[in-house]
Amino acid sequence: MGKEFKRHLITSALPYANGPVHIGHLAGVYVPADIYARFLRLKGEDVLFIGGSDEHGVPITIKAKKEGCTPQDVVDKYHKIIKDSFQELGISFDVYSRTSSATHHKTAAAFFRKLYDEGKFVEKESEQYYDTETNTFLADRYITGTCPKCGAEGAYGDQCEKCGSTLSPDELINPKSVISGGELVKKPTKHWYLPLDQYEEWLKQWILEGHKEWKTNVYGQCKSWIDGGLQPRAVSRDLDWGVPVPVEGAEGKVLYVWFDAPIGYISNTIELLPDEWEKWWKSEDTKMVHFIGKDNIVFHCIVFPSMLKAYGDGFILPENVPANEFLNLEGDKISTSRNWAVWLHEYLVDFPGKQDVLRYVLCANAPETKDNDFTWKDFQTRNNSELVAIYGNFVNRAVVLTHKYFEGKVPAVRTLTDVDKEVLAEIPQIKASLEHNLSTYKFREALKDAMNLARLGNKYLTETEPWKLAKTDMERVATILNISLQLCANLAIAFEPFLPFSSAKLVKMLNLEKISWNEFGGAEILAAGHQLNPAELLFAKIEDVEIQAQIDKLNATKEANQAAAAAAAGTPAPLPQKEECTFDDFMKMDIRTATVLEAVKVPKTDKLLKLTIDTGIDTRTIVSGIAEHYTPEEMVGKQICILANLAPRKIKGIESKGMILMAKDESGRMKFVTPTEAVDNGACVG
Ligand code: MF3
Ligand code: ZN
Repeated sequence: MGKEFKRHLITSALPYANGPVHIGHLAGVYVPADIYARFLRLKGEDVLFIGGSDEHGVPITIKAKKEGCTPQDVVDKYHKIIKDSFQELGISFDVYSRTSSATHHKTAAAFFRKLYDEGKFVEKESEQYYDTETNTFLADRYITGTCPKCGAEGAYGDQCEKCGSTLSPDELINPKSVISGGELVKKPTKHWYLPLDQYEEWLKQWILEGHKEWKTNVYGQCKSWIDGGLQPRAVSRDLDWGVPVPVEGAEGKVLYVWFDAPIGYISNTIELLPDEWEKWWKSEDTKMVHFIGKDNIVFHCIVFPSMLKAYGDGFILPENVPANEFLNLEGDKISTSRNWAVWLHEYLVDFPGKQDVLRYVLCANAPETKDNDFTWKDFQTRNNSELVAIYGNFVNRAVVLTHKYFEGKVPAVRTLTDVDKEVLAEIPQIKASLEHNLSTYKFREALKDAMNLARLGNKYLTETEPWKLAKTDMERVATILNISLQLCANLAIAFEPFLPFSSAKLVKMLNLEKISWNEFGGAEILAAGHQLNPAELLFAKIEDVEIQAQIDKLNATKEANQAAAAAAAGTPAPLPQKEECTFDDFMKMDIRTATVLEAVKVPKTDKLLKLTIDTGIDTRTIVSGIAEHYTPEEMVGKQICILANLAPRKIKGIESKGMILMAKDESGRMKFVTPTEAVDNGACVG
């Protein structure tokens, strides 16, 4: 808002180190944050992009218990997976540290201690559930019982995973300890609270009056929290995993994970820049932006700012918090516990070298204003018809033709036609739009701008057809290729924040030293006579089989989940519904009633019976794999249904004409589908 900033402090939510990251995290937080950071760096701004793992909290301790290891083992494992996969995807953190580090413990404890010493907390004793078998107070997550809202068993003290309701342990019916399964008693315990009610007026001013430009989803959530009246929030917990509360007599208590985690942004800055960190956190001319998902809004817009405000001492507040909504996967909510996700570390193995494709698709589908859906088909289409067919195709043609006609040297421009001038005039316009969209966190729109630049080039080459002019008008060819190559150079810049790997390839192909945002828009990035490197394909087509493999993987997950759910309920799981078919598909099938006249076992097989069937239209042979379920004697005289027009097949040397319809369940049992009352043979079913 007219304010001049000297540096940009960009934070991205610290992912919990109790599992790997998936495409939902990426689309919501890390891809947009990285695009923003790269854009500002390319503009020559002073940027610090902070990441790290959030290694405290109850779920990590539960996971450790389940796996029979320590919480530290859990976070060590996932911190490494997360960190490595981010790096491979090109998420350009300046630092990626972790909240179990000594620096963080020290920083978070000191932060708490200063607020404590200055009387910024309220101390309160309350009755909490206590497990008499393990002699511990239980966090909400450690308490389980019947959900008061939907009646489901196994709801947690903070949430029912069946119906999604937010709960408090007191609401649970029949609360029990998750750890010991035992009964619970209530005991008094002391905790420290941040009195958010005291910050309500200030938050109203700062957000509701001062930041009307925040995204509507973010502003709206803040408004409803503030309008609903803010309550003091406990910042400590009875737990043995976390940053110990640095106060005497607070044994067995740690800082609440949502108190220590955002301080992690500060700790990680300190770790990277022990002498300069204050310049980043305590200068009015630093622009701080938090990238998060929508479930983090209250903590980043209300709680953490109140903590910083309470601390004072020059700490700055975020200028913006461009939180995103959620990404779904093939129409269903992404779920770690149901393994319904595309995991980054697995993607990187399944699609080596295709980091930019994922970045592209996730940005193009980023859930910026509403929840959005990722599908593998869309992934394939965006790769094949956008990246390959437009961007890749254009660059390839421009570079290949330059090698063909000018030995790979950028030809000089001769006379510009109106078409050339129009194309050149569009570049700065696209740049302006792209820059505006990136500066206002509209990354999807920004990506469309970049793609429009590629479209412009592709169309230009297709319409001017320099390959047809090569025999007659080399001067014209020179001009067209010069302009095309300048467009390529502009594309390398425009796409760098989104597709850094492809830009690096293109920069190498164009034999450029480096690129900068300043040059973007111009038509003289490449000097006449400049030597190009050989052409390389920027993108490759993704085939159906690769996509099918991913869809199969998800289907297997779905089936496993259904089987597990059914097993829990005591019935075998039905197979999921098959792909939709049309009325016409169905009408093609000639299903009719028939009667078995004779049945004999097919020699040297266990499963096959050779049946002679009266179909009403003819007498024919069908070989069927039912010998394990029915004896030949049982079969004779039975009325059944058959698919009559199935193409004939030879089975064990016998020609089989048609198929017998059977109901087959998951345990492999088979039963005939028979009319409930006798009908004429040959009656059509449908
Ligand atoms: N771990 C939290 C989550 O995944 C995010 C923490 S962000 C921080 O929802 F600010 F606390 F670091
Ligand atoms: Zn419920």
